[in-house]
Amino acid sequence: MRILVTGGAGYIGSHTVVSLLDNGYEAVVVDNLVNSSKKSIERVEQITGKKVTFYEADTLDRKAMDEILDKEKIDACIHFAGLKAVGESVKKPWEYYENNIQGTLVLVDALRRHGVKNIIFSSSATVYGEPEFIPITEQCPKKSCTNPYGWTKSMLEQILSDIQKADPEWNVILLRYFNPIGAHKSGLIGEDPNGIPNNLMPYITQVAVGKLKELGVFGNDYDTVDGTGVRDYIHVVDLADGHVKALDKIKENCGLKIYNLGTGNGVSVLQLVKAFEESTGQKIPYSIKPRRAGDIATCYASAELAEKELGWKAKYGIKEMCEDSWRWQSSNPNGYRD
Ligand code: NAD
Ligand code: UD1
Repeated sequence: MRILVTGGAGYIGSHTVVSLLDNGYEAVVVDNLVNSSKKSIERVEQITGKKVTFYEADTLDRKAMDEILDKEKIDACIHFAGLKAVGESVKKPWEYYENNIQGTLVLVDALRRHGVKNIIFSSSATVYGEPEFIPITEQCPKKSCTNPYGWTKSMLEQILSDIQKADPEWNVILLRYFNPIGAHKSGLIGEDPNGIPNNLMPYITQVAVGKLKELGVFGNDYDTVDGTGVRDYIHVVDLADGHVKALDKIKENCGLKIYNLGTGNGVSVLQLVKAFEESTGQKIPYSIKPRRAGDIATCYASAELAEKELGWKAKYGIKEMCEDSWRWQSSNPNGYRD
């Protein structure tokens, strides 16, 4: 099978392309490189010893999408392309709605006109808002999002669900990711944020590599094990493998399916810091800061449905996530930049 991977040069996309190639799929990547580098594709080819067909193109570009789909014989699409910085989305809502929503509408229209009615969409645990119960199952009601980025995920879930309902030839799988961290074992690909990282693990690794002075811990008065926020960190390679399993489900003509991709384990900020120090030998100085607006105390998945229906379960623990994040960061202190 030949898979169109939008956003395939990005963090999760590049790891997923490795998993696809390792599992006998062919990958056609479309990425406008707005938040990534073509180097990631070269590294993917180095890791797998296989060729990736790459198009530098925007999902908003109707003509480009048509040309690519005319040329390539695609069986299914894994759709990662999107903007994802929460704070930026508050400042630039129009840009986020246009890129993420319009970009998906154009893509889906091109796909259906080319008879490709199989799509796996990158959603997020953010759609659960302040979750009604923990661990979060797929039955947990969706709530108000605190930012435009989150709304694009929530709205796109609705849009893709409605499209599938109106045309049952579509197979649509919505994957709600928890908190991806880690990197490929080779240390050749990993997360490469622009500027000062917003997310915890890239912040920790940049402190460790000496680019940032200390970690600010956003609040230690939550109702959690040690007062700091609890999340479900998942190794990006496990996450990538979840997409390969989802393709198997698509082959069964599954219709609309929704799965959490998480480990089911909650880990606090300070527990992650300690695990990082223990597994890498790097000291992470930190200080306690006020809570970050929009943060919730605890968020972790019930990962049972994905195990039952996809036969997928996260294999890696926090120790490997820390080791692999560190291997990537320490061997590429400036990410893909020279
Ligand atoms: P990323 O920024 O590394 O990857 C996204 C890729 O999409 C980038 O390579 C970017 O250049 C590309 N892109 C953006 N807009 C595009 C457009 N209009 N046309 C073509 N390419 C475009 O982010 P990531 O962490 O790999 O996330 C991948 C997907 O998963 C995103 O949709 C993101 O919202 C979602 N997601 C990520 C997380 C996370 O914590 N990383 C959590 C939940 C969901
Ligand atoms: C954030 C986004 C969410 C997105 C997810 C994955 C917000 C409000 N939410 O979630 O929409 O889907 O990333 O990309 O931004 N922390 C610190 N210091 C830091 C950074 C983080 O203490 O410098 C804490 C946070 O308060 C939180 C935990 O670490 O408790 C994890 O934070 P982060 O990595 O940003 O992920 P989320 O908050 O889960």
